[in-house]
Amino acid sequence: MRRVAETVCLTDRARTTVGSRLASCRCARHPRVVRRWLCTAGQVPVHPVPDLALEKDVEQRIHYLGLKQPTPLTLQEILQFHSSPSQSKLILSACFLHEEIPIRLARRVKELVALPHGLSESQQIKSVADRYRRTTLRIQSHAKPDSPALELAFTAMVNDILDAHQSVQIEISSAIRDLADRRAREGQPELDLSRWLDKFYLSRISVRMLLRHHAALHTPLPGFIGIIQERIVVAELVSEAAAAAEEITTYYYGDAPEVQIDGHIDTSLTYIPSHFYYVLFEMLKNAMRATCEKHLGAPVLPPLQIVVADGDDDVVVKISDQGGGISRSAVENGDMWK
Ligand SMILES: Nc1ncnc2c1ncn2[C@@H]1O[C@H](COP(=O)(O)OP(=O)(O)OP(=O)(O)O)[C@@H](O)[C@H]1O
Ligand SMILES: [Mg+2]
Repeated sequence: MRRVAETVCLTDRARTTVGSRLASCRCARHPRVVRRWLCTAGQVPVHPVPDLALEKDVEQRIHYLGLKQPTPLTLQEILQFHSSPSQSKLILSACFLHEEIPIRLARRVKELVALPHGLSESQQIKSVADRYRRTTLRIQSHAKPDSPALELAFTAMVNDILDAHQSVQIEISSAIRDLADRRAREGQPELDLSRWLDKFYLSRISVRMLLRHHAALHTPLPGFIGIIQERIVVAELVSEAAAAAEEITTYYYGDAPEVQIDGHIDTSLTYIPSHFYYVLFEMLKNAMRATCEKHLGAPVLPPLQIVVADGDDDVVVKISDQGGGISRSAVENGDMWK
């Protein structure tokens, strides 16, 4: 039976803000970024971006769309649907996105507008919210992609949207940094927006995942269905992420702990490799950094021990380091997030 990861279960001595970390996912495992342009660029006219100033009742339309509930989808459902690709499934997928993405984007606009402490009024947040508004209306104004030609045109627009929204997380971080600096200057207490950030970025990931997946169906890669890879050998991905974490740790600390991988090293699962890789990389980076700082100047650093455990329902990757962990008081005071 094929194993599909619904959640990635990682244990570590530390918690990590997986949601917001995933959002800034940028790793070498994006073989599609260039390929998707090859499939559409120059062949299909891209549906234009609307001018918000010329649109009527924008806020009302966003408001009503945002009241609708998004349709939850599991990786398993996406995979089952696309396991035997066909033109009619591509059309169904595009029609689904045509309805679904505006709802999800409209809900994000409402969250951005409701941000506290004047954040919603910052230049960067306003610009992000406007981009979400434009994209919402843009998708809605595209004809229902219910023919092969319209589906192609819709996919060209999807690729364009993916590019247009790439810088969102940088703009949001910049707005939050500006606000934090201003509050520090005014002697006001620090804000904790981590819950909002996790929610916002998780939903952003889900939108981008749906769009990227649809676009990737046009350029199938062996072993992949869209952006989902069948049979990722977990230990191999851990080892790739460890090599990258080792490189960055050596750059900063001059050395990095050895990584020992044990357990069910042949276990494989079906998942989005770039997402899984990113989580592993962040966890390993944390573990290596803690080890280097705790054992500064030691001739040999204690190794990281990684166990891949293939359970009945989950695959667990356990990362143990000897970096001293996080003190209870730091967790309770939230110091580790500052
Ligand atoms: N394995 C670990 N051992 C000890 N402390 C850890 C470990 N993992 C995380 N921490 C603590 O948790 C904090 C938050 O980790 P997180 O990964 O969210 O951010 P960061 O590592 O500080 O920054 P970034 O991930 O952006 O480089 C770390 O700064 C560190 O103090
Ligand atoms: Mg980290």
